[in-house]
Amino acid sequence: MKRVGIMTSGGDCSGLNAVIASAVKAGAPLGYEFIGFEKGWEGILSPMIYRPLTPNDVRGISFLGGTILRTVNRGRFGAKAGAGDQRRIPQEILEEAKRNLASVGIEALIVIGGDGSLSGALQLSQLGVNIVGVPKTIDNDLHATDRTFGYSTACQIVVDALDRIHTTASSHNRVIFVETMGRHAGWIALRSGLAGGADAILLPEFPFKAQDFVEFLRMRQDTVGSSVVVVAEGAKVDDRLATRDGYKSQEVLLGGISSRLMHAVECLAPDEFDMRGTVLGHVQRGGTPNAADRMLAKAYGVEAINAVDRKEFGRMVCYSVKGMCTVPIEAAVGQLKLVTSDNVEYRTARQLGVFVH
Ligand code: F6P
Repeated sequence: MKRVGIMTSGGDCSGLNAVIASAVKAGAPLGYEFIGFEKGWEGILSPMIYRPLTPNDVRGISFLGGTILRTVNRGRFGAKAGAGDQRRIPQEILEEAKRNLASVGIEALIVIGGDGSLSGALQLSQLGVNIVGVPKTIDNDLHATDRTFGYSTACQIVVDALDRIHTTASSHNRVIFVETMGRHAGWIALRSGLAGGADAILLPEFPFKAQDFVEFLRMRQDTVGSSVVVVAEGAKVDDRLATRDGYKSQEVLLGGISSRLMHAVECLAPDEFDMRGTVLGHVQRGGTPNAADRMLAKAYGVEAINAVDRKEFGRMVCYSVKGMCTVPIEAAVGQLKLVTSDNVEYRTARQLGVFVH
């Protein structure tokens, strides 16, 4: 029996359980047994927290949100300090993880994580630990893979919210801001804003002038009445990010851009607009994955154990329309995949008259 460790790390997202279940179910007939490490890297560091995962243990979990292995997105193994930055994990922590994995007979480790977790995985793999990464983030901003699971579900949740926001915005002739997640990438805001019929979509990738936005709102007020604005949490007003702060050595927490934007509009156009804001927050990360994310997560889980079987270590599985493949982990971390002006969704929104910036 070859023993494989599996763990989820970083912020949770819909589809994690489907990856775990698929890796275990596809791996068992190939002769692998699995150990699930709990609470991300914390479960690998001392005192270790782990349990065996048999095909029986993972039956019927693929439709569940969250992760049965639990997760931590900041901690002793935190490898992320800012957008695209990587932090060197202390050598003694890396050595401890390597030692602990060996002590329970782990021959390969499947790490399901985002940019920060995979940066940590890369450092451990450079120390000789056999690692296969699985990209995970609702933000869809991981380089080297076309799609991450959890993204589609998050977009659907935003679209469902927008359908409700439209009717109340138009009833009251209001401007309603809907703030989405996504960190420094505007993928969630762009797709859900376009699909959900937002009148304006404000993205981190493209600066805009508050004055131009006010002119757009005036035009809407004079013609239609109400406006629904989707704003990505990483968008900037006057070049400033809205942050919730708290973490000094690790990555900043974003949030509050909708309030800042309302304030900026009020300063430029006092009493002109009746504005409200809705921050969707972690609603976007919770709950059951949709069909597209379940399918993607299952494909990632199966490909992860296949990569282990092929001994493709130090690599991350990735998805493209052509199929599943693997790339070196270093090709995937340290740089974000961002929305560009030639993106088809961006161009579609522009041509439809959406104020997209
Ligand atoms: O990276 C995923 C994500 O959900 C971001 O969109 C968001 O900024 C962040 O995690 C929130 O992190 P936390 O759960 O620590 O508040």
